[in-house]
Amino acid sequence: MEDLTPNPKDLDPIETASRDEIEALQFHRMKRSLKHAFENSPFYRKKFIEADVHPEDLKTLKDIAKFPFTVKQDLRDCYPFGMFAVPQSKLVRIHGSSGTTGKPTVVGYTQADIDHWANLIARSIRAAGGRPGDMLHNAYGYGLFTGGLGAHYGAERLGCTVVPMSGGMTERQVTLINDFKPRIIMVTPSYMLSILDEFRRQGLDPRQSSLQVGIFGAEPWTNAMRQEIEEAFDMHAVDIYGLSEVMGPGVAQECVETKDGLHIWEDHFYPEIIDPVTGEVLPDGQMGELVFTTLTKEGLPMVRYRTRDLTRLLPGTARSMRRIEKITGRSDDMIILRGVNVFPTQIEEQILKCAGLAPHFQIELSRSGRMDTMTVHVECAEDQAAADARAASAKELAHHIKSVVGVSTRIEVRDPGGIARSEGKAKRVIDNRPKE
Ligand code: DLL
Repeated sequence: MEDLTPNPKDLDPIETASRDEIEALQFHRMKRSLKHAFENSPFYRKKFIEADVHPEDLKTLKDIAKFPFTVKQDLRDCYPFGMFAVPQSKLVRIHGSSGTTGKPTVVGYTQADIDHWANLIARSIRAAGGRPGDMLHNAYGYGLFTGGLGAHYGAERLGCTVVPMSGGMTERQVTLINDFKPRIIMVTPSYMLSILDEFRRQGLDPRQSSLQVGIFGAEPWTNAMRQEIEEAFDMHAVDIYGLSEVMGPGVAQECVETKDGLHIWEDHFYPEIIDPVTGEVLPDGQMGELVFTTLTKEGLPMVRYRTRDLTRLLPGTARSMRRIEKITGRSDDMIILRGVNVFPTQIEEQILKCAGLAPHFQIELSRSGRMDTMTVHVECAEDQAAADARAASAKELAHHIKSVVGVSTRIEVRDPGGIARSEGKAKRVIDNRPKE
């Protein structure tokens, strides 16, 4: 694979600024943002008053810990527009996250918000190895989901030629990749696997495709999966992170030259890691829940938003901004099985160690008597479908999971194509345990 390290001249100056410069900018912006939230959002005004804090109490960056958290339920309680800090007429766009039940969580952007977002996605694509003039196939879903339009505006901003595919119609995706010859693809990692299957179904060699860079995110994925995709397509696979409440994709991005975790674009988002139980701020390097305060957002400023994503903060490498380690998972997705915490990403890692298995899986939880049980549904590789090969793969996977993750599981090895494919975010866990 080609070395895609960008020319330092092409970076935004802040990407390589000193920590002092970054922190000075953060402080200035945080102060302005807290004042804006307090003065223009009745939601924040009430919240700050109840917590007995005022934007003037921010004397250093660390003082942000004096301010109350914001959680997803706050957005639900304010549905649809109650949290905004500008009148609706100043918003140029609404997005929403689907949520598992009922109404979406609604977010809104002013023109300045959209501009910042486009710039940060452009910066992210460049960090991934993209350049002006590249053809970019965008298979993130368009619509209320932030992935499609977020990536789209940023790709245009960088000067790419965007193919606005959205998710779905997998056969068509492959046809257009072959005909248009994009250099870059943006898509969820699980949908990239569906595209890979389709390449093979059409008798095409994915390694011969024009794709050189994949920018994958919107769901947890592992370094083992990175290796799988990089080998299959002979391309670079890098991670992009974000969430609609904070902006959308492009809050943090992995650099192609290091592939060592995601640099948070700290000039726009101030990160903290907290203990998810006590809410206490943890030092850099410790695992916990990621919390963001937005520094430039006008439409919907976020103060200490609890993402529920678990990771840790690491020092800068390719850029001076701090990194997050690849997300282990969301606290909501953590399975507690007979006292052991299990994340779907841990299961993914073990599946990818087994040569006889394909990387498609789902975890089913059920209860027999008072015991919770976990079944991993996974597919055999195309050439490993014979009964004895499947039995050996099942045994191998159960052994890896038991010895590395520490839980006993039932393994069900299905035919190739036997696990439902995602066209966006994969659903990894099916919980059939009775509701308490
Ligand atoms: O998924 C935004 C996005 C679109 C990010 C495209 C990257 C690419 P939401 O639908 O609001 O927004 O979901 C946000 O998805 O809190 C994480 O739990 C998860 N997530 C997003 N990116 C990653 C990633 C978009 N790179 C939620 N790794 C977040 C792990 C991710 N989880």
